[in-house]
Amino acid sequence: MTMTSIRKSAAAVVLCSLLGGSAVAQDRPVYLDASAPLERRIDDALRRMTLHEKIQLLHAQSKFTSAGVPRLGIRQLNMDDGPHGVRAELKWNDWDSAAWTNDSCVAFPSLTCLAATWNPAMGALYGHVLSEEFAYRGKDMILGPGVNIYRHPFNGRNFEYMGEDPCLAGRMVVPYIEAAQRNGVACCLKHFFLNNQETDRWDGNVNVDERAVHEIYLPAFKQAVQQAHVWAVMGSYNKWNGVHCSHNDSLLNGILKRDWGFDGVVVSDWDATHDARQAATGGLDLEMGTTRGTAPKGEPFTYNHSFLGDAFERAVREGVWPESLVDEKARRVLRTIFRTAMNPAKTIGSMCSEEHYAACRTMGAQGIVLLKNDRQVLPLQAGRYRRILVVGENATRSLTQGGGSSELKTKYDVSPLEALQQEFGERVVYAQGYSSGRALYDRVDAVPAALQDSLRRAALAAAQQADLIIFVGGLNKNRQQDCEDSDRESYHLSFGQDELIAALARTGRPVVVANFGGNAYAMPWIEQVAGVLHCWYLGSEAGHALTDVLTGRVNPSGRLPMTFAKRVEDYPPMQYGREAYPGVDKQVYYREGIFVGYRHFVSRKVKALFPFGYGLSYTTFRYGRPRLDRTQLTAGGSIRLTVDVTNTGARRGEEVVQLYIGEDKPVVERPARELKDFSKVGLDPGETRTLTFEIRPEMLQYYSSDLHRWTSTPGSFHAYVSASSEDVRGAVAFELK
Ligand code: BGC
Repeated sequence: MTMTSIRKSAAAVVLCSLLGGSAVAQDRPVYLDASAPLERRIDDALRRMTLHEKIQLLHAQSKFTSAGVPRLGIRQLNMDDGPHGVRAELKWNDWDSAAWTNDSCVAFPSLTCLAATWNPAMGALYGHVLSEEFAYRGKDMILGPGVNIYRHPFNGRNFEYMGEDPCLAGRMVVPYIEAAQRNGVACCLKHFFLNNQETDRWDGNVNVDERAVHEIYLPAFKQAVQQAHVWAVMGSYNKWNGVHCSHNDSLLNGILKRDWGFDGVVVSDWDATHDARQAATGGLDLEMGTTRGTAPKGEPFTYNHSFLGDAFERAVREGVWPESLVDEKARRVLRTIFRTAMNPAKTIGSMCSEEHYAACRTMGAQGIVLLKNDRQVLPLQAGRYRRILVVGENATRSLTQGGGSSELKTKYDVSPLEALQQEFGERVVYAQGYSSGRALYDRVDAVPAALQDSLRRAALAAAQQADLIIFVGGLNKNRQQDCEDSDRESYHLSFGQDELIAALARTGRPVVVANFGGNAYAMPWIEQVAGVLHCWYLGSEAGHALTDVLTGRVNPSGRLPMTFAKRVEDYPPMQYGREAYPGVDKQVYYREGIFVGYRHFVSRKVKALFPFGYGLSYTTFRYGRPRLDRTQLTAGGSIRLTVDVTNTGARRGEEVVQLYIGEDKPVVERPARELKDFSKVGLDPGETRTLTFEIRPEMLQYYSSDLHRWTSTPGSFHAYVSASSEDVRGAVAFELK
C-alpha cells in the first residue's frame, strides 16, 4: 500500500465510524479493526510505521502524554496520577497547574486505607470508580496503584501502598486492576521495586538477599502481573544491584518479562532514566519525565533529547542497536494504546457522581480501624453529651492536599468537623489545639512556640466545659509527615500533639482520638484515652466516613495492614543500625531479610502496640475449633480447613478471619507463621457461618537462595486461624508429604 492509500483508508474508517456505517469496512486496515486479534493489529501497524514514528512512541511528548502516530490515526497515550484520584491538569511542559476550572475530582481513600478494609470487593469497587473518573477526563492510564512493602514507618510514601504483607497487598491489588482495566483504563503498577523509603530515593542502592526479594518484595507485583494481567509497570527511581530500576535488565527483562510473561509496557518513573545504553537494553519501553537526557550543554531540553529519542534513533541507523529492539518496545506501547485509547469498549466514564462519593464513603468507613474502646465509649450515644469538643487541626484540614504527586484537587471535601456538626449540631465546639504551620511544605520546627502554646491553652480551657473530647490529629502530608521525597524524622506525632492529648485526658473528660496518617506512630497517651480510631486518609468523604463509624451507623471492620510498634526501635531495620535504614553513602542493606513487619514481631516475640491484622468491632465474635478434611498434604492435592465464626454481640458486624501457616521445625529459618489467606464475613447477631479455606502445597514453600527457586521440605506444619497476627483463635496440625 502506498502512503496515500494508507492515509485515505484511515480517513475512510474514521468517516465511516462517524457515520455509523460499515460500507467501507473491507478497506479498513487491520490495525484499525478492533475486532482483529491484537497481535495482528500491532504487526500491521508496525509494518506501516517509519523508524522515526516508532521512536516517537517511546518517550514523552509532554509531562503526562506520549505521542501516537497522527499520520495513521494512532492515538497518543494520556497518563495521570494516581493513585487515589485523577490529578488536576498541569501545564504541557512543567509541573505548574494548568489552572483549569473543570478538573476537580473525587479523592478516594488512600491505598493504605483500601488495604485496611481487607476486603477484595472494595479493591474492585476502587478500581471501577477511579477508572471511571480517569476515562471521563480523557485519560488512558492511571499512574498507580503502588504495592511496595511497608518496611519502615518513616517512609514518606507508605500511605500510597498496601501495607507490610505481600499476601494482603496482592489480594487487594488484583481486583483493583481488573476492574479498572475492564473499563479500558490501564493501571501502571508502581514503583517496581524496592522503593521502600524516600531518603535517597533518586539514587539509593538497595542491597537485599535473594530470598527476601522473592518472598517479600516481588510477590504482590507478580500477582498483579500474572493474575490481573496489569497493562503497565513503572520502574522505580532507586537502584537494585547498582542499576536504576527503570532500566534494570535483570529486573525488567529477566524477572518481569521473561519469568513472569509480562506483555505490557514498562514506563520509567518521571526522570528516572539515566543512561543511553541501559535505556535501550534494560527493559524500558516508554521514557517519561526526562529533563536533560542527551541535550547538549547549554541547549534547552526538548523531548527528542530523551535517551529513547533522537540519539536512540541515530544509534539504530548506525547499527549500534538492531531495529528489532525498537520494534519490541513499540509493540508494547502499541498494545497499550489499542487496549486503552483505541479500545472501542473503553468506558466514557463519569466524574464526581453520587455513586463515586458513595463508594468513597463506603471504602473509607470500611478501612477505619478501631484500636481501643474502653467502657464502650463508642459508638457515641447521641443523647448522652451536651457539649462535644473537637480538637485538632486535621478536623478542618483538607488531607487531599500535599503528599506529592498523589495530591488532588477535589470538588469538595467533607471535613470531620463539618460532618460532626451535621450530626450533633450546636453541641459541637471546636478548638484547633495545635498548628502545623501555614504552608504545606513547612518544616516541623517552623511553627512559633508562642502560637502553639496559645492554641493549646485555648483547647484546654474549652475542655473544661465539654463532656466528651474528640481529638482529630495525626500526620498530614506536609513534608516529613507522609510526603513524597521526604521521610519522617520521628516516630512521635509532631506539633506537640502527644502532650496535648495527654493534657486533654488529664481533664478527666473522656477522650476519643481519631488520627489520620499512612504510617504507624507512638501512642504514649494510649492508657489515658478512652477510644482510638486510626483513619488513614479518607478522601473527599472523610468526615462522613468517620462519623459513620463514630455513631455506629457503620460497625468498624478495618484491620491494620501493618504493625504499630510501641517504639520505632522495635521495627526490624532498626536492629541493624543506619546501614539498614536510612542507609550510608546511598547504600541501604535490608539486613532483616524476610523478617519484615509481623514476621519479625511474632517470630521474635516482640510485643507490638497493635499487631498486624488487628482491629476491634462494636460486636464480638467467637471462633469454633478449626477442622481439616485430611491431615496429609501431597503434591497436587489440597486440604480443606473449615471454621465456624459466630457473632456473639448485639449488632451486625464484619470479622476478618485470617489464616496463617507456620512450619514446626523448618530446615531453614522461617517466620513463626505467615498470612496465607483471609476472609471478611458479615454476621447478624447470633448468626454463625462456616468459612472454608484451602491449603495448597505452594502455600508452604519458601524461596531457596541455594536452588534459586521456590521449594518446600516434607514436615509438620500448623494452620493458625486468627483474628490478628498475634491473636490465634485455633490451630490445627498437618503434614506435608
Ligand atoms: C512519582 C510517581 C509519579 C510521577 C508522575 C514521580 O515523581 O514517583 O509516583 O507517578 O512522579 O507524577
